[in-house]
Amino acid sequence: MRVLSGMQPSGQLHLGNYFGSMEPNLAYMGKAEESFYFIADLHAMTTLHDPKALRQARKDIVRDYLAAGFDPKQAIIYYQSDIPEHTELMWILSTLTPMGLLERAVSYKDKVQKGIDATAGLFTYPVLMAADILLYDANLVPVGRDQKQHVEITRDLAVKFNNTFGEVFILPEPVIRKEVAVVPGTDGQKMSKSYGNTIPLFGTDAEIKKAIMGIVTDSKEQHDPKDPDTCTIFQLHKLFLSPKEAKALAQEYRAGLGYGDAKKRLLEAYLEFFAAMRNAREALSDAYVEDVLQAGAARARTVAQATMERVRSAVGL
Ligand code: ADP
Ligand code: TRP
Repeated sequence: MRVLSGMQPSGQLHLGNYFGSMEPNLAYMGKAEESFYFIADLHAMTTLHDPKALRQARKDIVRDYLAAGFDPKQAIIYYQSDIPEHTELMWILSTLTPMGLLERAVSYKDKVQKGIDATAGLFTYPVLMAADILLYDANLVPVGRDQKQHVEITRDLAVKFNNTFGEVFILPEPVIRKEVAVVPGTDGQKMSKSYGNTIPLFGTDAEIKKAIMGIVTDSKEQHDPKDPDTCTIFQLHKLFLSPKEAKALAQEYRAGLGYGDAKKRLLEAYLEFFAAMRNAREALSDAYVEDVLQAGAARARTVAQATMERVRSAVGL
């Protein structure tokens, strides 16, 4: 079984990325025969045209991954742009991609609505993502719910390719953890870099405190009973707790735990949970990160080249 996932280097990683994508991927890492984790730097170019920022963000996100526990002995970690086969396969797939399939992509519409330029790259983003996945014969793709449709598009394209040219691709399955399908941001909407409502994973203590203290609540008074199910503080705190602990905390909310205290406790849980990772990040040397990326790219390239041989031969190139 092969597991694969990608992450765009388009800003600081946040709690939603951790629980929606990184943690489920970490859980699979030891179980997979081989896992592939890449930095989707070409995808990031659909929203980022600042070379300095992209260079920095790519490097930062690799450190974040390594600090979070992605182990280069068990996982292949690389930059998407180091493997040119991604864009080559994307082109071939795009010749089979119906416009209507892309027109139905919710993520494209959302992004354009948020003011991101409607470029051909943004529109064909799902085709590049399909190439990312199909190149490595990935069986499982652990992602947050917002990426599910992209994995379905990948399946559609794999079926279309196989029907046209013969069986070349394996159909991947998305893996979505129900209980953390959508991590809410400090304003209660989905946590997202583009909404400015994130709690960063590797921010300074002050940044994290500011974000948590700024979580929006309703106007209930200090000792009023609170509804844990609609409270963003509780929904976030729950991510750090066992079901039993979460139940006990929910009881405290109902018994009138004040929002200020609730936030302080969330902050403590947060800092405790991520302390080891934050220390580990400090300890990573540039040379080590560079080595990981080179070894990762070498292994990824071998797999990608073998797939492209199959593809080229199937299509008549
Ligand atoms: P953002 O919305 O902040 O730009 P990305 O789109 O880069 O995040 O998402 C990277 C990964 O993290 C994807 O697998 C996505 O599904 C997951 N993810 C992002 N935000 C959340 C969230 N609020 N809840 C759950 N998963 C999330
Ligand atoms: N589109 C994904 C996101 O924004 C990142 C990504 C690119 C990806 N290629 C992928 C995720 C392949 C899984 C598999 O989160």
